[in-house]
Amino acid sequence: MRIGILGSGLMGGKLGTVWARAGHEVVFSYSRGKEKLNKVARDARGKARAGTPSEAAKDADVLLLAVHWSRIDDVLKQAGDLSGRVIVSCSLPMNADDTDLVIAHTSSGAEELAKKVPTARVVSAFGTVPSEVLFDVFESRRKATRPSLVYCGDDPKSKKVAAELIRDVGFDPVDGGPLRIARYTEPFTLLIAQLAYEGKGGPRLAYRFERFGE
Ligand SMILES: NC(=O)c1ccc[n+]([C@@H]2O[C@H](COP(=O)([O-])OP(=O)(O)OC[C@H]3O[C@@H](n4cnc5c(N)ncnc54)[C@H](OP(=O)(O)O)[C@@H]3O)[C@@H](O)[C@H]2O)c1
Repeated sequence: MRIGILGSGLMGGKLGTVWARAGHEVVFSYSRGKEKLNKVARDARGKARAGTPSEAAKDADVLLLAVHWSRIDDVLKQAGDLSGRVIVSCSLPMNADDTDLVIAHTSSGAEELAKKVPTARVVSAFGTVPSEVLFDVFESRRKATRPSLVYCGDDPKSKKVAAELIRDVGFDPVDGGPLRIARYTEPFTLLIAQLAYEGKGGPRLAYRFERFGE
């Protein structure tokens, strides 16, 4: 596939590198340093190159959105017309100092993104969600041989693309359902990240979910 990376930092840089090495054509874009983009592309090897967001978006089969929430409008503007494009987003709706979600509970970053680009097809992926959060995930984890990553979206074809990209980085893709499920996955992604950063100094956590709803 031809993959455009919008935001080539920790997430975009690493994922794009793995996909380039898996044989995809990758265009890295959006950094404050052009030389940094060139270096990421050089180090990724394969069919990788640096470009502008609009070059990354042009003819892309899929775009990875991996910028801080505060940069979303800017990078979308620079990318140009995204009609019909598959956008796989890992961008969490974080506040400026990354301490909290600015959208949660009744909506999600992924859903707000889909409203910003209504003609594109948004899939939310590459967040970390513990296996017990969703029953479908729990069930699929029983049979899993590799760690899983949850993705969600409303368009079946775009979800297939996201699942392939998840497999390429060595995880089992688990379909979490429609895009609105991001309301549940995004807070967990943040929780897991915060716990990871706190390491052994952080709290010991135990949790148990009973089955809700149907
Ligand atoms: N890191 C994780 O473990 C993780 C996990 C799940 C989700 N996420 C989410 O993924 C998204 C990306 O996270 P990340 O850790 O990859 O962030 P990051 O390393 O800071 O990467 C962000 C990218 O955006 C670029 N950028 C920032 N401001 C810019 C500007 N004014 N003009 C042009 N480019 C600019 C950065 O450029 P520079 O190269 O100049 O820095 C960098 O390439 C975030 O929404 C985060 O919440 C992250």
